[in-house]
Amino acid sequence: MKILKTGLILTAFALFIFACTENKTANINTINNSNTVIVANNTQPAATIDELASAKNIFMKTCVKCHKEDGTGGVTVFEDTTIKAPNFTSDKMKNEDDAEFIETIENGEKEDGMPAFKGKLSEEEIKNLVKFIRREFQGKQ
Ligand code: HEC
Repeated sequence: MKILKTGLILTAFALFIFACTENKTANINTINNSNTVIVANNTQPAATIDELASAKNIFMKTCVKCHKEDGTGGVTVFEDTTIKAPNFTSDKMKNEDDAEFIETIENGEKEDGMPAFKGKLSEEEIKNLVKFIRREFQGKQ
């Protein structure tokens, strides 16, 4: 009788452990799946608080007149030109690679009204601006 009881308890315990492990595996899979999506578009290491603060400063001074405080961009009319800045919160912009962003910030898209910042901003500042855009407007780390 005692042996039967111990057996039952052991079986119950084993089932319990099994259930917990199953759950954990499922959770890890879910987390991994969403991480894969983030890593695909954001290859840079996470920004430090300082880097983000200084990037935000630059953005609010230099980029905001076209890209807007909330990053949604849109149509802006300057003295004699109309420009249309992309919406950073859109799926299209979320799927642009870091390299694409960096290239555009460095060399601009003159005919569309995006100025070139190579020489005006350091490489480091440009990389941090991309991290800032990812985090502030696209909910990434
Ligand atoms: C005078 C207006 C203006 C200013 C100032 C400006 N931008 Fe832009 N930006 C644009 C326009 C217009 C586009 C769309 C260009 C195109 O059609 O590809 C753009 C595109 C971009 C893109 C998207 C590139 C891509 O892959 O499609 C990024 C990133 C960007 N700007 C970052 C910045 C940052 C960072 C700053 C500040 C340092 C800045 N911009 C300042 C007008 C501006």
